Amino acid sequence: MSAPRIEVLASAREVAGRAADRISAFLASPAPVLGLATGRTPLAVYTALRDRVATGQLSLAHAICFNLDEYSGLPGGHPASFESYMRRELFGPIGLPDDRWHLPDGDGGPAEARSFEAAIVAAGGIGLQLLGIGRNGHIGFNEPGAAHDSRTRQVRLTEQTRQTNAQDFPANTVVPEYAVTMGIGTILEAREILLMATGTAKAEALAAALQGPVSEAVPASALQRHSRVTVLCDFAAAQLLSCQVASCDPKTALLGLVPSVE
Ligand code: F6R
Repeated sequence: MSAPRIEVLASAREVAGRAADRISAFLASPAPVLGLATGRTPLAVYTALRDRVATGQLSLAHAICFNLDEYSGLPGGHPASFESYMRRELFGPIGLPDDRWHLPDGDGGPAEARSFEAAIVAAGGIGLQLLGIGRNGHIGFNEPGAAHDSRTRQVRLTEQTRQTNAQDFPANTVVPEYAVTMGIGTILEAREILLMATGTAKAEALAAALQGPVSEAVPASALQRHSRVTVLCDFAAAQLLSCQVASCDPKTALLGLVPSVE
């Protein structure tokens, strides 16, 4: 086990650019299996990937993609579903055929969850998993209290998560109470993990995840158990980390951090 590698960049835009660079490099590997996230944080990553595909610098033609989660109980084609999000932000514009990307079935039961996991295994396992982090430290929709060996399953969303995500729903729409998410155990099986965090609202969760105890109270703290995690964050999200600067690249305003010695 080695501590997550923390890279602090000057802005959310730089974080997205750095994530897009890592994903692009990963996509050059043979038969890449890419784990993707939704939410606000990766929007600029998908813009960058779309632009690279449009200009011929990048192809996802050989990739297979798996998303972390999907709401339960939304009608097909609902604009706030994660399927609609992925079609809009990435898969549609780059023309990725439907059989090359998978989301958990938000309305499926244990059998559908098992076949989602089986599809990941059949594809060869996720090589690189992109993650955001919730204000309460959730990853995927694994809310505080989720077991670190949990698998894909239906979960109940916290009020805080539903309130935060209400901004993605049309006015006066009720945010679903349930969703299906990859489990923390499933996420930890990815060979490499890229966690993105931007903005002050993520500072507390990020510090708890990376420097607090490994605990079910903070789902993202499970990432301390993984040997290949890179954290890409901006100064605002990094402000509560107690770290020493291990490296500094004046050209990219990138700081490499290591935990400070007490
Ligand atoms: C998204 C997901 C969530 C988000 C998290 C942060 O697929 O699983 O864990 O990554 O809620 O969301 P944003 O980026 O909107 O702050």
